[in-house]
Amino acid sequence: MSFDYQNMRSGTAESSSDAQFAQAVLEGLLRVPKRLPSWLIYDDLGSEIFTEITQLPGYHPAQCEIEIFQRHKQAISDLLSKTAFRVIELGAGDGEKTQILLEHLIQNRLTFEYVPIDISEGAVKNLVAALESRYSQSNMSVLGIAADYFDGLSQISSNSSVRNIVLFLGSTIGNMELPVAEQFVRKLGESLNAGDYVMIGFDLMKDPKTLYAAYNDSTGVFERFNLHLLDILNQKLGANFLKEHFVQQGSYNPRTHAVESHIYSTREQVVLIKALGKEFSFDAWEAIQAEHSYKYTHAEIELLAEKSGYQVVTHLSDVHANFVDSVWEVKP
Ligand SMILES: C[S@@+](CC[C@H](N)C(=O)[O-])C[C@H]1O[C@@H](n2cnc3c(N)ncnc32)[C@H](O)[C@@H]1O
Repeated sequence: MSFDYQNMRSGTAESSSDAQFAQAVLEGLLRVPKRLPSWLIYDDLGSEIFTEITQLPGYHPAQCEIEIFQRHKQAISDLLSKTAFRVIELGAGDGEKTQILLEHLIQNRLTFEYVPIDISEGAVKNLVAALESRYSQSNMSVLGIAADYFDGLSQISSNSSVRNIVLFLGSTIGNMELPVAEQFVRKLGESLNAGDYVMIGFDLMKDPKTLYAAYNDSTGVFERFNLHLLDILNQKLGANFLKEHFVQQGSYNPRTHAVESHIYSTREQVVLIKALGKEFSFDAWEAIQAEHSYKYTHAEIELLAEKSGYQVVTHLSDVHANFVDSVWEVKP
């Protein structure tokens, strides 16, 4: 079985994503109040710090999803085992949870391909190497792709004799506002074949106190994750943010149904972003909204599937029903 890695983050793909990045920062810092989208934070280090978040004991989305894979791996395997299939994972990160499923499929002697796609080259390379060292004697072949979600998907030949299941885990969909999430899942369905599955991890609405605790750890990992955004702006756009003059806090906003992370300027200051040819002023305690993590209800999940061209197959939950991995089939 083969264990391969492809990097699509070079040449034109890289320069168009750099231009998109600069445009998103410009628009976000000109907004009142300032607001930067969650996806800006993912370079290699951003993806690594996110892995640290998933290991925090109080970060329920990761703990719940591990439990869901352990409880329901046979049910997922039952969906797939009847025909040849391929497991594609968008934004795979360290692939920890997925390995619970992969191991189960391997133990059941199924033959399949696993295709992790992630914008972080480091994450994909490490994942392919880890899988090769553990499973080189199995019937699983692996093709890791470092790319944006849809560039990676378009790279995989559309072989209609192979059923695809696309995993989009970790409540990453919650980082998108509802209309963007709808566009995303519709485009995803259009990139697949009728009968393919998607499995999407949704964090469910719950007691705001639980949400507050999950996104404000005492060890400061969330703050490091969010302030890393300032390092990225310094590196990619030649900005001169000084991280020591900013602090971060997350809180649930009942108007947007999302946990919103804010980066607060602790003083009045001016920051130059060379690549944008602009200076941006911050008042003391002015906030930039950064991470956005929408909390879904079951009804919203079903509506999203229905409006975007899917049939809901099943909702897989942890025992306390804090989180759902919802499995949908692409309609003809
Ligand atoms: C919230 S993390 C989830 C990681 C992992 N799936 C989990 O459940 O723990 C989002 C992942 O998506 C990747 N990512 C973010 N934006 C991406 C994009 N546009 N294309 C591909 N991967 C992306 C990040 O590098 C990161 O590994």
